Amino acid sequence: MKETLLNKFSEIFGGTEGAKVYFAPGRVNLIGEHTDYNGGHVFPCALTIGTFGVARKREDQVLRFYSMNFEELGVLESSVEGLKPEKEAEWTNYPKGVIWAFQEKGYSVGCGMDLLLFGNIPNGSGLSSSASVEVLTGHILRDFYGFDVSNQDLALIGQYSENKFNGVNCGIMDQFAIAMGKKDHAIFLDTADLSYEYAPLKLENAKIVIGCTNKKRGLGDSKYNERRSECEAALASLQKVVDIKSLGELTQEQFETYQSAISDEVKVRRAKHAVLENQRTIQAVDALNRNDIALFGKLMNDSHVSLSKDYEVTGIELDTMVESAWKQDGVIGSRMTGAGFGGCTVSIVEEDKVDRFMEEVGREYKEKIGYAASFYVVEVGDGPVIL
Ligand code: GLA
Repeated sequence: MKETLLNKFSEIFGGTEGAKVYFAPGRVNLIGEHTDYNGGHVFPCALTIGTFGVARKREDQVLRFYSMNFEELGVLESSVEGLKPEKEAEWTNYPKGVIWAFQEKGYSVGCGMDLLLFGNIPNGSGLSSSASVEVLTGHILRDFYGFDVSNQDLALIGQYSENKFNGVNCGIMDQFAIAMGKKDHAIFLDTADLSYEYAPLKLENAKIVIGCTNKKRGLGDSKYNERRSECEAALASLQKVVDIKSLGELTQEQFETYQSAISDEVKVRRAKHAVLENQRTIQAVDALNRNDIALFGKLMNDSHVSLSKDYEVTGIELDTMVESAWKQDGVIGSRMTGAGFGGCTVSIVEEDKVDRFMEEVGREYKEKIGYAASFYVVEVGDGPVIL
């Protein structure tokens, strides 16, 4: 892989002297969806698939970007000065956003770079290809300039760039899971204060299977921001009757006591999801630590129902895939993962049933939706590295 990437870099940018190869993973969230901007818990893990980057610092201020996933776009150029998001800049808005974010935070990024990327995460699938590029870029800048920033800082800077440069009001989960990834462990993160624990993923004879709906991303980002505002409005109503900073502070019982303070029925359901999903995540991690995989799976299934009925971020593609998964032999749990509105599902499936699972769910999905899904059996890996 390293060889192929360096050869391509040389072909595009001329020579490989001074170039280094970097990697940042993608992530999958096992449970705790749409809780990270509500002060709740999440339970994601980094994957062994992700984004590879070959980078070389330049003497001038020119930025040159090339992606092996979007070869038709050729080399896209920019400058480290006066960075702003532009539609024509396509995917390069992500690395540019991170360079901008470092500058905003007072780090001097004065030189340009040549950067070649190759991602083996399906693009726009909900496995965080964008957060992977963000953390990768921060990791490269830290290496170039020797900035004193931790991996957690890389996550925060990545999120800042996505919020302020790319206009998606995402929470911290994706960048944190990627920057802080640990092989064979998931991260139990409390987004209220960023305290976290690594939990060993002892899935016994089961595998993590990702089902990609292959639905083209549509209004995903604007709907995402809409859900976030709905939760903020529900929180503001609750704050009139109870002293809380976020929805994640409430137990189910407390929510039931105070929910009448929210006048709008839709916002009640949004807040209910945020509160109960947080409680489910806490229970799920406890179940996993006690080796109760069956309960972990059941909570994953409950999470999907809540995301479908109360939070309304699934749609026919994700629902079809998950409902088909629930019927298969050897499935411990299955749910949508990530923001929703298309993207992927995550299922925990007994190892010897995985092939049959992919075949059956794939067949039912194609029959109902009209086009094929894709499946990936994934492994849990580490955070960013230099190869
Ligand atoms: C996206 C966001 C995350 C998180 C999830 C939903 O992946 O980037 O911050 O909110 O959606 O759980």
